[in-house]
Amino acid sequence: MNRTFVTALVIILTMAGALLNQSSASSDAARKTDPLAKGKRLFTRHCAGCHGAEGKGDGYKLLGPDPANLTAPATRKKSDSALLATIHEGKPNMPSWKGLLSNHDIQNVLAYIRTLPH
Ligand code: HEC
Repeated sequence: MNRTFVTALVIILTMAGALLNQSSASSDAARKTDPLAKGKRLFTRHCAGCHGAEGKGDGYKLLGPDPANLTAPATRKKSDSALLATIHEGKPNMPSWKGLLSNHDIQNVLAYIRTLPH
């Protein structure tokens, strides 16, 4: 599974997510402004497919490294800047998000990951 394929897959999933989101666009102002709610929405749409709904790494398994369990001590111990860099740059089997999400969205998504139960 090469990175171009993974990136293409993610773009397709992102577009499908955007369509779904449009049709269910409730005008809930709080959901739009609360960073954690925004982070949760982004996580569910873009990350949960691989990392699992609760971040336990139980989503899709591709050939190669499995999605990280984002609630494991190994990840929780890492600094925000280290994890932000990983989300920006990607990993084997994980796309780079810097062209797809804004810095602000990436921070919201990490803030949400930090709240996942472990
Ligand atoms: C196509 C599958 C896939 C998607 C989608 C994906 N990831 Fe990942 N992610 C992975 C894999 C696989 C790893 C582990 C790679 C490794 O072990 O080298 C990983 C690792 C990480 C890590 C590093 C954890 C650590 O301990 O260093 C973070 C943080 C992370 N992902 C966040 C995210 C976020 C946030 C999103 C959504 C914006 C996302 N991932 C979407 C597959 C994915």
